Amino acid sequence: MRQIQAIKGIRDVLPEESVVWQHINQKARETFHTFGYQEIIIPIIEVAELFLRSIGETTDIVEKEMYVFEDRDGKKIALRPEGTASVVRSYIENNFSRTSTFSKLYYIGPMFRRERPQAGRYRQFYQIGAEVFGFDHPMIDAEMLFMIDQFFHTLNITGYELQINSIGCPLCRPGFKEALKSFFIGRLAELCENCRRRFEFNPMRILDCKSTHCHALADEAPKTLDYLCDDCLTHFNKVQDSLKSTGIQYIIKPRLVRGLDYYTRTTFEFVSGSLGAQNAVAAGGRYDTLVEEIGGPPTPALGFSIGMERLYSLFDSISVQKKPPKIFIVALGEKGQEKAFSLLNQLLREGIPSIMDYSGGSLKSQMRRADKLEVSSVLIIGEDEINKGIVTLRDMTTKTQTEIPLSEVIERLKNIKSFKSC
Ligand code: HAM
Repeated sequence: MRQIQAIKGIRDVLPEESVVWQHINQKARETFHTFGYQEIIIPIIEVAELFLRSIGETTDIVEKEMYVFEDRDGKKIALRPEGTASVVRSYIENNFSRTSTFSKLYYIGPMFRRERPQAGRYRQFYQIGAEVFGFDHPMIDAEMLFMIDQFFHTLNITGYELQINSIGCPLCRPGFKEALKSFFIGRLAELCENCRRRFEFNPMRILDCKSTHCHALADEAPKTLDYLCDDCLTHFNKVQDSLKSTGIQYIIKPRLVRGLDYYTRTTFEFVSGSLGAQNAVAAGGRYDTLVEEIGGPPTPALGFSIGMERLYSLFDSISVQKKPPKIFIVALGEKGQEKAFSLLNQLLREGIPSIMDYSGGSLKSQMRRADKLEVSSVLIIGEDEINKGIVTLRDMTTKTQTEIPLSEVIERLKNIKSFKSC
């Protein structure tokens, strides 16, 4: 029979990797809580219109990457391609602005985009993201970048670069778009087919194109920073002053316009040379008009998301301690298994991480399995032990063995502190 495989671009996170993911998530939670963020758990599916209206109809994500299906009642539903739109929807729907002048929220979970799979690019991928609502002050932009930098520090990740830009606001953006159009109109033949279309609907996207030729042209194109209005320029300068006071290094990347339409003013990416073509490990920016565009009160906002798979590949997993069970019970013979099973139940009730090898086999083969699992101790219960009313406790580090009366074994193990910590 043909074997069923996972869908292209969608992968399993196997146990040895998932331990590291949990460690990374834990560090994210600790860092974000330190900065005053609270977790929000957003749905995996939303009405597709949410993403059309937020990310933008002419973006790659909405045009060709969203997984959309029709529900039984005919409603168009999408698997979320990102988290920001959902958090904004929830912020509005749950009237966050009524109860507090600002909100700091984070989320962790899978996103779905039907992109061409390649290293660091999947169709189901995980993001750790955060959003802040209610502050237009440039210092919060710097605080957010500082938080991402701190988070990376807690994971001992180094060698990344922070790139920033400002793409202006609805006041100054039209002037920039006009300048872009004037620049590209005489060069349309040199652009890729995609960018020729972008020229009509979304000329800023051309700056984001990965094709080498468009890339080279875009380098000569007008720069957003030269078209900022006074308020946007002041904001951008203040973001930089605040960043300098945190001591974080950054560079200005004039072409950093991002691939989603909702951004205003500050945009940023953390990139790493060791990630290859898909080099952004974290990305985000301001979106001061989105809450209102989706039907909420005018609310300045900003956020970012970190790509878990890319972060994982930058992280040195060796530093994460594995958590093997503490005790492995070797049971010999049917009687031994019965005694062992009741002992196992008592150990588990006491919260001592223990496992029993139900596949049986010889003492030697069970010991080999215990060794492989790197447990701290082995309890052996065979015919001998049953006849004597004892169990044999083998310390796997010192390789020493002691006999303990069966009636005392739980009490003895309970008092070994390291057995409790899993
Ligand atoms: P994004 O740039 O589309 O922004 O994605 C953020 C990060 O998610 C990327 O830098 C990358 O690390 C990771 N990522 C994106 N697509 C994939 C993929 N196909 N496979 C693996 N990793 C991927 C957003 O999603 C915005 N919501 C960020 C944001 C939050 N802006 C404001 N708030």
